[in-house]
Amino acid sequence: MPLEPPSNAEISQAAAALRAGELVAFPTETVYGLGADATNPQAVARIFAAKGRPRFNPLIVHVCDLGAARRLGDFDPMAEKLAAAFWPGPMTLVVQRKDTAGIPDLVTAGLATIAIRIPSHPVAQALLRAAGCPIAAPSANISGHVSATTAAHVRSDFGDRVETVLDAGPTRCGLESTVIDAATAPISILRPGAITTGDIAQIAGYVPERGTTDDQSPSAPGQLASHYAPAAAIRLEASRAAPGEALLAFGPCPAPHTGPMVNLSPAGDVTEAAINLFAALRELDRSGCKAIAVMPIPAVGLGEAINDRLQRAAAPRGLGNTMS
Ligand code: TXA
Ligand code: MG
Repeated sequence: MPLEPPSNAEISQAAAALRAGELVAFPTETVYGLGADATNPQAVARIFAAKGRPRFNPLIVHVCDLGAARRLGDFDPMAEKLAAAFWPGPMTLVVQRKDTAGIPDLVTAGLATIAIRIPSHPVAQALLRAAGCPIAAPSANISGHVSATTAAHVRSDFGDRVETVLDAGPTRCGLESTVIDAATAPISILRPGAITTGDIAQIAGYVPERGTTDDQSPSAPGQLASHYAPAAAIRLEASRAAPGEALLAFGPCPAPHTGPMVNLSPAGDVTEAAINLFAALRELDRSGCKAIAVMPIPAVGLGEAINDRLQRAAAPRGLGNTMS
């Protein structure tokens, strides 16, 4: 944790930088975001350049309240219900984009829909209010790399290419927001995340399906390709590490391990594991290992999102195969 959260003066400075078209990295309760004024196409273009992100992969637009969200997109009764239940918080709703939204096509990759989120983190809220504009922000990592859950992760990916990094310590959830397609009924989950499918089903009244994960289709981008990937290779469902492999453990360790190791949750708690996941992948990478053996993690609750991230981290990597 930093000794002090960002001061009002630091937040005002960051807001001024945003309004001037610069990039600002800021904490949310999920992961750190790399923000730009969502109404300024030149500023948004800087996000794609800094991350090396393909332009067909649209960005989430962050706003401070429901009034601002409704100015950007159409909220049908189901979207309103989800918003009332989970905002502010770690949920992103994809809804029909309003013609009057004033958001450049670059943000939405030219789609008729827009992804909107109201974060609850006090620093994100303060920044949104001080800036007075919606903030387009993907996770603050180089495209395809592990997301950033601390300001140090952001600096390690971008160095001084991103001047302003608001540091509020490690993020609370550790995993990105759950992305829900609420543009058409029935709703579907485009990306599992910090709010579980079970929580969403309770509000929706049914268990939403997983959205289509067609790599070629811009309506569900960034869903299957290699992603969230450390430099080391990932081997899933490992009962132990082979010689030379680092171990990403979960629960009690079955066999003694002498090489680099992080246990996501010795007690076998998926919430604790979610918080630790991205920092653990970055830490094992720093050990210089070539491969990481990952013990099985039950796909219950937040375990669904953890397994989603690990499967993408393990997916074949190659040109055009990384999305955000
Ligand atoms: O927790 C989070 O969601 C973080 C914080 C910073 O808010 N942001 C984040 O953004 O994870 P990013 O860009 O790394 O992931 C956003 C995901 C991508 O998979 C993108 O393809 C999808 O949301 N997305 C954005 N707009 C969309 C749209 N109109 N339709 C379908 N998917 C969309
Ligand atoms: Mg991302």
